Amino acid sequence: MKIFLDTANLNEITNYKDFIDGVTTNPTILSKQESKNYKNLILKICDLVKGHVSVEVISEKFDDMLKEGQELAKLHKQICVKLPCNYYGLRVSKYLSEDGIATNLTLCFSATQAILAAKCGATYVSPFIGRLDDVGQNGLSLIREICEIYRQYSFETNVLAASVRNSYHVTQAAIAGADVVTVTPKVLQNCMDHNLTKIGVELFNNDWKNRKK
Ligand code: G3P
Repeated sequence: MKIFLDTANLNEITNYKDFIDGVTTNPTILSKQESKNYKNLILKICDLVKGHVSVEVISEKFDDMLKEGQELAKLHKQICVKLPCNYYGLRVSKYLSEDGIATNLTLCFSATQAILAAKCGATYVSPFIGRLDDVGQNGLSLIREICEIYRQYSFETNVLAASVRNSYHVTQAAIAGADVVTVTPKVLQNCMDHNLTKIGVELFNNDWKNRKK
């Protein structure tokens, strides 16, 4: 399973670069960065990581979205064009993927959207776990359903669990067979922290310091 970092902050990416295989961004994440030179920022992110960097289109209609996706893809070979999982985004994915451009179909909230993303050549589909949980549905069930359907038909699209709010989401997405989990720096930090590890290190080091000499 790959781990992507869900941020556009260069310090955060630098801090966690040893753990991650790629980066995901969205317009909200990019709008929060200090640098307003977005092209430059995206290129710097590509330099920091080896894998895909998802960058989302903001156009809403087919022609504009296709052009924007093609322009984003030209920026750097690691860029994966993030498209909304709707009529236009799915069609644009079909066109871009036929040209060998990687796509990530985002804002996926149903298994049928994920089936269509796979049919349209998406490299990744991003089901949003946390936002489904927020409205009283079960985000992890959706991950399980999509993984099962993709396995059944040998679809090549990668399941990228997104809107991940905690380490339980990470574990359960992994058990379901998600290919990628994208996490915020906070969730990634929580994934490596354990109180018993902290207490154990303190105990070992104290015992060493107080050893008989
Ligand atoms: O990867 C998608 C993610 O950025 C959305 O997360 O927490 O805004 O639902 P959230």
